[in-house]
Amino acid sequence: MSAGWLAIAGLGPGDEALVTCEVTAALAQATDVIGYIPYVARVAAREGLTLHPTDNRVELDRAAHALELAAQGSRVVVVSSGDPGVFAMASAVFEAVEAGPAPWRDLDIRVLPGITAMLAASARAGAPLGHDFCAINLSDNLKPWALIEKRLRLAAEADFAMAFYNPRSKARPEGFARVLDVLREACGEDRPILFARAVTTPEEALTITTLGKATSEMADMRTMVIVGSSQTRIIDRVGPPILYTPRSA
Ligand SMILES: C[S@@+](CC[C@H](N)C(=O)[O-])C[C@H]1O[C@@H](n2cnc3c(N)ncnc32)[C@H](O)[C@@H]1O
Repeated sequence: MSAGWLAIAGLGPGDEALVTCEVTAALAQATDVIGYIPYVARVAAREGLTLHPTDNRVELDRAAHALELAAQGSRVVVVSSGDPGVFAMASAVFEAVEAGPAPWRDLDIRVLPGITAMLAASARAGAPLGHDFCAINLSDNLKPWALIEKRLRLAAEADFAMAFYNPRSKARPEGFARVLDVLREACGEDRPILFARAVTTPEEALTITTLGKATSEMADMRTMVIVGSSQTRIIDRVGPPILYTPRSA
């Protein structure tokens, strides 16, 4: 086996203070860093390190490239934002391993966790995920809308708090309006909802409101949306309100 290795690392939600020491150490040892352009831009250039920024739509090609380099003896870090196992590159790498040449299975591959956007957003607002919850990716790039709607309705019926990634993009602006309609129908107008944009970055903005007052323009691709369960409460106070879900249902 070659001395190369592949680390699939999470850079956290944005603030450098939230990058783990383990990820920093892997980046310091790397010969190659591979990932979506804005994530690779977060890695400082240095001698002996080659940066490979690529477009977001080429996940499997990017994974295969990383595996090829590691098989040739390179020390490769594939970077994702947040956690690499949450709607990100870790699954793409393992899909490539499963479909690829047999020697790839014997490579030294490690997944280095990061703070996912859902947890960073939740922490900023209080503790909306303090009881049972689920996470759903609202992008219909990789699954049909009918499946998204089914999962929304069943999650609402099970009374989970819900964390939504990829709520809205320029390419599909109407989808999130439909999501809000489904949620209003299933959960009622008074249910708390959090819009947490660009959390832990200088552009951070938080809005806590209700489904009845929520509009689809409140979300974009840099926003994490969290809808409470029937038990989730808003504590009003001077300054930003606190959103939390009690420990018991
Ligand atoms: C393709 S997913 C990647 C998720 C990432 N692997 C993670 O664990 O956070 C991208 C989505 O994550 C959410 N997201 C990522 N960073 C965020 C941040 N700093 N603030 C709010 N939402 C964020 C947004 O919903 C965005 O559309």
